[in-house]
Amino acid sequence: MLKGRSLIEPGDFSLEELELLFSLAEKIEDNQDYLRCSCAGKVLAALFFEPSTRTRLSFEAAMLRLGGSCLGFAEPGSSSAAKGERLADTIRTVSCYADVIVMRNPKEGSALLASRFSAAPVINAGDGGHHHPTQTLTDLLTLRRLRGGLGNCTIGFCGDLKFGRTVHSLAKALAGYPGVRMIFISPPELTVPEYITRGILEKKMVPHGEAERLEEVIGDLDVLYMTRVQRDRFFNEEDYIRLKDFYILTAEKMKAAKKDMLVLHPLPRVNEIAPEVDGDSRAVYFKQAKYGMYVRMALLASILGAV
Ligand code: NCD
Repeated sequence: MLKGRSLIEPGDFSLEELELLFSLAEKIEDNQDYLRCSCAGKVLAALFFEPSTRTRLSFEAAMLRLGGSCLGFAEPGSSSAAKGERLADTIRTVSCYADVIVMRNPKEGSALLASRFSAAPVINAGDGGHHHPTQTLTDLLTLRRLRGGLGNCTIGFCGDLKFGRTVHSLAKALAGYPGVRMIFISPPELTVPEYITRGILEKKMVPHGEAERLEEVIGDLDVLYMTRVQRDRFFNEEDYIRLKDFYILTAEKMKAAKKDMLVLHPLPRVNEIAPEVDGDSRAVYFKQAKYGMYVRMALLASILGAV
């Protein structure tokens, strides 16, 4: 069903297709041998024009566990981009060598552009402050696994909602499920873009609100999605320094939260969650990172036609 398809933003897959992916990922989690070697002989190219730990390594781990191979770069300075090569030319070339391309690039829209020039399917691993659909697959699988479903919850997004692409993608995806309410918690300078609130949530009549202080709303939340302030996307260092510690989730603040509220974070974390919270059973961000590998295995196996 997903064979040969690209994934550029969350809306590219239907709810039914997502369900299939999640059940496949769950099967892999339950039986680590399932699909092992199903992608033998296939090649994944990981082109990372921006830093990454989890996304790149979980894609590579996923491909290796499926029996395939990986090539690529983690540092654009070592590719012909450093000589001024156009993205379209890089992609045309790499798609002669690989069966699937995973790309992270600082420019919004770059993944869509890449998919137009590629002979192989392209997976967007983050295009600037725009979208990050495989983080969303990770987040949705985490919620499905740990909450038992995806609808009927109040989710608070907290931190840098302006530049945080994981927030944009997750809000867009969750808008497709019934009973979801969203609260956007950010300083006024870092509010969520209107293309999300007006463009998507209002059209789909998803109840949503804004808040500035986490303490005011934490008690209402079933899920708290924390994010770091995206220093890499700030135009000036002064603003970053002023805003970077605006939110710090502490054990004290967690006392006001529901007993079963889940704390998610795409990671990397900087200061926004105190390490003392890590031992709280509601803090699931490291489990989330693991779900990222299972769902990427399911995604690659599906796109490569191994299931
Ligand atoms: C995020 C990203 O790169 O957008 N991380 C990730 O992929 N797990 C979040 C971030 O960088 O803050």
